[in-house]
Amino acid sequence: MLRAGLLYLSEQPSVFRFVRKNGLARKLASRFVAGETLDTAAQAVKDLNAAGISASLDLLGESVTNEAEARSATDTAIQILERIAADRLDANISMKLTQLGLDLGTATCAGNARRVLERARALDIFVRIDMEASAYTQRTLDLVEKELFPGFPKHVGVVVQSYLYRSAEDVRRLADLGIRVRLCKGAYKEPPAVAFPAKADVDKAYGELMETLLLKGTYPAIATHDEALIERTRRVASSHGISNDRFEFQMLYGVRRDLQLRLVRAGHRMRVYVPFGTQWYPYLMRRLAERPANIAFILGNVVKEGLR
Ligand code: FDA
Repeated sequence: MLRAGLLYLSEQPSVFRFVRKNGLARKLASRFVAGETLDTAAQAVKDLNAAGISASLDLLGESVTNEAEARSATDTAIQILERIAADRLDANISMKLTQLGLDLGTATCAGNARRVLERARALDIFVRIDMEASAYTQRTLDLVEKELFPGFPKHVGVVVQSYLYRSAEDVRRLADLGIRVRLCKGAYKEPPAVAFPAKADVDKAYGELMETLLLKGTYPAIATHDEALIERTRRVASSHGISNDRFEFQMLYGVRRDLQLRLVRAGHRMRVYVPFGTQWYPYLMRRLAERPANIAFILGNVVKEGLR
């Protein structure tokens, strides 16, 4: 109920306009978002790198409504790539196709994505295409598989969400094609017609998809904070002789920092998704929806800092 309410609020631009000016909300966001500028985000990446953790930089923002906005998001993605190279950051980038104009047409979006990928290839930086709500799944996969991967096989990969019924088939096909997959549970509000309503089924599907990716995929990214699934990943890898450099764990900025460090100490590759930018509101609401206890936790910290 609370989760559904928070996900509903995540889609309300009028609430964001109100919240962006609110100091408390900005403080809440700073737990999960590395500031509003590339400078603050680059500093967050340097701190992670110093702890042995790689990063994936994500400029926050979702659907754009015209070509100029899509071009501007494309230019910014290229600036992020240049900054990664200039500062020698151990980082790649994540981006959403709706930011590059997926709603304006496949050709516009593919053209923008190719422009980013050409620069990424020149700088040898990997680009992860995030997965959005289920209305975009087929278009995203088609674009990656048919338009982007053939030209940039080493520099582009996609995301699969275990809550979707279709994902077993998608994972098998992506593994056969050799396309790198980040596996996550899925963060959007989806109807039971397309996604498992029960968390237990989402977790079960995650375990099965993880095994397929470890055994048949190309350098999969196991993106979860779920300790049971992380342990199972480690067990599957070790029982099949899959070395730690053949896959990576991924987590979100500000979530389970203890576990991130523990896995690094155990010799695993760990990459943290570092979102930044002014459009932090829908992202923050999805994080709060995942764990409504965060609201009390972060508010408690804000109050404690205020009292100090
Ligand atoms: P689950 O929600 O079951 O949580 C397991 C445990 O992790 C919880 O008990 C809690 O301890 C901790 N935890 C999880 N979320 C937390 C939070 N917000 N705050 C504090 N603790 C938390 N989704 C998507 O639809 N498209 C995408 O492209 C991506 N990309 C992506 C990249 C990376 C690197 C990650 C880690 C995740 C995504 N996601 C995503 C989000 C993903 O789908 C999912 O919503 C979250 O990762 C939460 O699910 P868990 O797998 O962590 O499990």
